[in-house]
Amino acid sequence: MLILGIETSCDETAVAVVENGKKIHSSLVASQVELHKEFYGIVPEVASRKHLEVILPLIKKSLGEAKVSLKDIDAVAVTSGPGLFGSLLIGVSVAKGIAFSLNLPLVGINHLEAHLYAAFLAFPEPSFPLVGLIISGGHTELVYLSKEGKYKLLGSTRDDAAGEAFDKVARILELGYPGGPIIEKIAQKGDASNIRLPMPKFKEETLDFSFSGLKTAVLYKVKNFRKKNLPLPSEDIAASFQLQVAKIIGERIAEATSLKKVKQVIIGGGVASNRFIREYLSRKFMGKLKIFIPPPALCTDNAAMVAALAYNKLKQGKTSPLSLEAKPNLKACS
Ligand code: KG4
Ligand code: ZN
Repeated sequence: MLILGIETSCDETAVAVVENGKKIHSSLVASQVELHKEFYGIVPEVASRKHLEVILPLIKKSLGEAKVSLKDIDAVAVTSGPGLFGSLLIGVSVAKGIAFSLNLPLVGINHLEAHLYAAFLAFPEPSFPLVGLIISGGHTELVYLSKEGKYKLLGSTRDDAAGEAFDKVARILELGYPGGPIIEKIAQKGDASNIRLPMPKFKEETLDFSFSGLKTAVLYKVKNFRKKNLPLPSEDIAASFQLQVAKIIGERIAEATSLKKVKQVIIGGGVASNRFIREYLSRKFMGKLKIFIPPPALCTDNAAMVAALAYNKLKQGKTSPLSLEAKPNLKACS
């Protein structure tokens, strides 16, 4: 079964053709990074206009790369939320149009569930029960998956999402946007031990996250260097910040897996493409837990994960009506 996947929840227009939820025939991403760079963040109106401009040519290109035509497609999958309303609307409308005109099943997909599902697309092994972690630009959510399609939220961020913190710290350091890849790059030359940053503290026991204290600590360090007219050790700051994020994530994974007595963890979202964090986690849990992190291109926004998850939904007889709506506030576990 060939599924056409469409993803326009944020600032990437993505289209993929995936067979039986596993074989990726094409997976294309038209990034808008250059467009939003000057604003240090995503401008929703600009994002939706760009999606509208590129989506149909991208679908054509994706079908071409997969060497198929629309006639060969068996179902259409689209991210219906969460995300930016105007951006979601473009993908959802195009998917509905294709499904309606060709009389194909339509499957609305939760973007967060798709980020988690990327691990099943990338690896044959993950088996339930699992702990799942989404670390993206808009979300940081820790979930317990007792079985297929059954999610329980264990914790989420109380302030900034992990990726948002990377973006804000990069902005403080005047490094550009998006922050994650830039911080990862310059941190390679830095020494984390030169800059001390705090770990978040909570009054009660919780599996929630907090990144804003860490970001504010970076801000104060930077202000201090500037006040004293000292050269800013951006590389050391980046390395220390990245290490703290890895530690925060590692701590929560350790606590959640021990609470739920689970030995397998799946991780998805843009921050999971960070090589330092990937290596930190695999070292920390070597011989204790199996950590499944998909290759970087399947961690950041893509449509292959959308098409793969849709295959799974279709197998369970789940489809969406042509009245499918864009749901900007869809939760991880809905
Ligand atoms: O999952 P994603 O592509 O889009 C959302 O659903 O949000 O995640 C984007 C986020 C951005 O905040 C970006 O800075 C971060 O992921 N990111 C990274 C890296 N690549 C992207 N964060 C840390 N290290 C990276 N290499
Ligand atoms: Zn995402």
